Amino acid sequence: MTREEALALLQSQNPETHLVEHGEQTEAVMRAMALRFAPGQEELWAMTGLLHDVDYPGTKDDPARHGLAAAEIIGDALPPEAIRAIAAHNSECTNVKPESEFEWALRCAESVTGLIKAAALVRPDGMQGMKSKSLKKKMKDKSFAANVDRDRIRECEKLDLELGEFLDLAVAAMAAPEQH
Ligand SMILES: [Fe+2]
Repeated sequence: MTREEALALLQSQNPETHLVEHGEQTEAVMRAMALRFAPGQEELWAMTGLLHDVDYPGTKDDPARHGLAAAEIIGDALPPEAIRAIAAHNSECTNVKPESEFEWALRCAESVTGLIKAAALVRPDGMQGMKSKSLKKKMKDKSFAANVDRDRIRECEKLDLELGEFLDLAVAAMAAPEQH
């Protein structure tokens, strides 16, 4: 599946702009994680990141189907491991438990985007020069971006990736000019 096809599929669900942005940010973090943990799988990890919430416009009132309905929308455009990773990103509702590095990566990648986006809004330079140390501080502040699940961000440790390193990797990926 090309990026153009993936984006068209995402757009076909009439998502709100912020959901497309969230997909693109998750795509960028997943691409960077694949470079390190699954070289050669960058496109698969990136497209799975881009499409992980593709079913959200149709499931926002039915959380148990979020992550499962995506399978019907994506069909065989992505391989089964991507479909499973998308289901496992909402394991709390779908009961599909994350097992592989790919699956853990999608969960922590899509969660860290919310933290970094919120932190960028309160900095004059946005993501430029953002440090993992200040992000860690914000993670401890429960009132900051309260909807961002800290435990899911810490799941980076399932890939033997230390939190600070993960935050640096994610900031770099999200701040980089888009490649497309
Ligand atoms: Fe998401």
